[in-house]
Amino acid sequence: MAGYSYKPVHNMRSLIFLGFLAVALQVNAQQGFVSIDCGMDGSTSYIDTVTGITYEPDAKYINSGVNYKIDKTYLQAATPVQAETLRSFPNGSRNCYTINGIIQGDKYLIRGLFFHGNYDGLTSVLFELHLGMNFWQVVNITEPSYPLWAEIITVAQNNSFSVCLVNINSGTPFISALELRHISSTDVYKDVSQTNSLVLYFRVNTGDAARDIRYPDDAYDRIWQVYLTPTVWSDINSSQPIQTSPGDAFQVPAAVMATAVTPANDTSLGFYFEADTGVVYYVYMHFAEFNALSQTENRIFDVFVNDELKVSSVKPEYLLSTHISLSVRSALGTEATYNFALNSASASSFPPILNAIEIYSV
Ligand SMILES: *[C@@H]1O[C@H](CO)[C@@H](O)[C@H](O)[C@H]1NC(C)=O
Ligand SMILES: *[C@@H]1O[C@H](CO)[C@@H](O)[C@H](O)[C@H]1NC(C)=O
Ligand SMILES: *[C@@H]1O[C@H](CO)[C@@H](O)[C@H](O)[C@H]1NC(C)=O
Ligand SMILES: *[C@@H]1O[C@H](CO)[C@@H](O)[C@H](O)[C@H]1NC(C)=O
Ligand SMILES: *[C@@H]1O[C@H](CO)[C@@H](O)[C@H](O)[C@H]1NC(C)=O
Repeated sequence: MAGYSYKPVHNMRSLIFLGFLAVALQVNAQQGFVSIDCGMDGSTSYIDTVTGITYEPDAKYINSGVNYKIDKTYLQAATPVQAETLRSFPNGSRNCYTINGIIQGDKYLIRGLFFHGNYDGLTSVLFELHLGMNFWQVVNITEPSYPLWAEIITVAQNNSFSVCLVNINSGTPFISALELRHISSTDVYKDVSQTNSLVLYFRVNTGDAARDIRYPDDAYDRIWQVYLTPTVWSDINSSQPIQTSPGDAFQVPAAVMATAVTPANDTSLGFYFEADTGVVYYVYMHFAEFNALSQTENRIFDVFVNDELKVSSVKPEYLLSTHISLSVRSALGTEATYNFALNSASASSFPPILNAIEIYSV
């Protein structure tokens, strides 16, 4: 079974679906969303025609930095319109956006978009993101036409969030958009606590998806990225809607659950990711059975990571979102390649499937 490394596929996104989305969004109020288009002049908000989300300029959240427009030749068809302007911070080691009106103790998803677009003629920059006094992650830009998202799910320690860009003498920090989504349910992402935040490593929608899926399909505006199916996998889909059980903490959008992959000609579905050593990763996998199985048929598989059995006898429910979670941690200094194998149980009449996967570091 060939491994398959994660590679975001932005150029796969299609504009064909824009019309449908524009209609769907009218009914949604975006409660608990703060959506900031950084580096935008003026004081007028606008509605993004792809997602229907209302974005506002950033002037009321920060008073340092310089506004830039990117070189539009770097934009691709699917690049979000928020990427067209950015705010850059040539001065000061630490420049922070302050977002007030936060409910202390509640969960929030916070996401930055970084699109360089050759605005300053320098193609690489490295800086740090901090949330208040806490390190969030490094932003490493090496490709001016590639949109980079940084995302964290965290519990608010205060009635405001301070999102800081920290200069580490490796280029000028900048930001294209800043988005905050209130996660009203306490059941969602239970691994996030007062002391643990989850930093997104990747979140992909496996199977044949024409575009990234986010709001309004996803109430929390998580972005489920298109994942190009390798030839050793086959795309499958459900013509019937996938339901979510009451109390399902994950709330994976039906559009994400409706597509999946299965081995093209094997009883094992394998992939790997390479990671930092000494870091704990939480992995969430989402499944649904698409076939109305008879009494004598079943689909059961075991999940191994680096040959260690992590979850046994996974049996996706018919047309119902089914989830598993596991964590992996490599010792400091050891090579951190995580090889995943979803292997058919010996009694299984159907091969394993995978509808979506999320990986976060703690
Ligand atoms: C950065 O600092 C320099 C030197 O103090 C000053 O001339 C310039 O106006 C500052 N730029 C910004 C954007 O604050
Ligand atoms: C930044 O990304 C480049 C290209 O992927 C890589 O070679 C480099 O090691 C990265 N730097 C850091 C500090 O992660
Ligand atoms: C809470 O925010 C206030 C300013 O709004 C700040 O002075 C204080 O240090 C913050 N507390 C924590 C724990 O971040
Ligand atoms: C769903 O799968 C069927 C084959 O099972 C295929 O003909 C159809 O094109 C697929 N639909 C989508 C939207 O991928
Ligand atoms: C499936 O795999 C078997 C064993 O590797 C091989 O002999 C067969 O040709 C493959 N079939 C297809 C359709 O790829």
